[in-house]
Amino acid sequence: MSAQAPVRRITVPLIAARKGGEPIVALTASHVQFAQILDAYCDVLLVGDSLGMVTHGFESTLPVTVDLMVAHGAAVVRATKRALVVVDMPFGSYEESPQVAFRTAARIMAETGCQAVKLEGGARMAETIAFLTARGIPVMAHIGLTPQSSNAMGGFKTQGRDEDSWPLHHADAQAVTEAGAFSVVLEGMVEPLAAEVTAACPIPTIGIGASKTCDGQILVMEDMLGLGDWAPKFVRQFADLRATVDKAVSTYAKAVRDRSFPGEDETYQ
Ligand code: KIV
Repeated sequence: MSAQAPVRRITVPLIAARKGGEPIVALTASHVQFAQILDAYCDVLLVGDSLGMVTHGFESTLPVTVDLMVAHGAAVVRATKRALVVVDMPFGSYEESPQVAFRTAARIMAETGCQAVKLEGGARMAETIAFLTARGIPVMAHIGLTPQSSNAMGGFKTQGRDEDSWPLHHADAQAVTEAGAFSVVLEGMVEPLAAEVTAACPIPTIGIGASKTCDGQILVMEDMLGLGDWAPKFVRQFADLRATVDKAVSTYAKAVRDRSFPGEDETYQ
């Protein structure tokens, strides 16, 4: 008998089976209280390495460590019951060899309890994806604009503006599919290319700034909630939490300064 009641989460095969079906709702998550809210509505919660930029203030995702991903990944798993939790493998933790990637992915899965990992790269990472999936580690791939390669790409550049490059993106999608990835993020790809890749690819595509025809969509939670002082141009802001927090904190500061806080029923008696 198990010591704990089983948690019934959306599984990797269920997400893989959503190709061409009901769109997959995904957001990034890195924080317990937000993850609890997101869990009711999202099929996939990605503990993305973008947390290095939005939560930790780095200028890129490159300084993010495995320790950081493990800490946030474990928090999101503890906070949730329903969504499939995927944790990003950070820059430098997997590219060297399939064996290094396996050790990192196994550590992330064991220490967080997540259901899958994500890594960036298409054809060049196919051997690694095959190595991981053959050993029981589900992999979400990530092609198009891959922020961990932003130095090599010359910045965060939309991919596919030049139609001559399209065959390379198709080849990336095909390579990660054949290697066994259960889904693939298409980031920052021009719309007609993302639509073509989605139509051709037998695994679900999850778009970010890509195409509404993708099999699912993902956004960085802080961007879509309007928490930051900046968000990429393609992001629709579904709320203006920065203004809401600003108002709450300025009201609190005023109440402290004019001694109207705490009130009588807001102190221990
Ligand atoms: O790190 C991240 O948030 C991501 C998404 C943008 C897909 O990889």
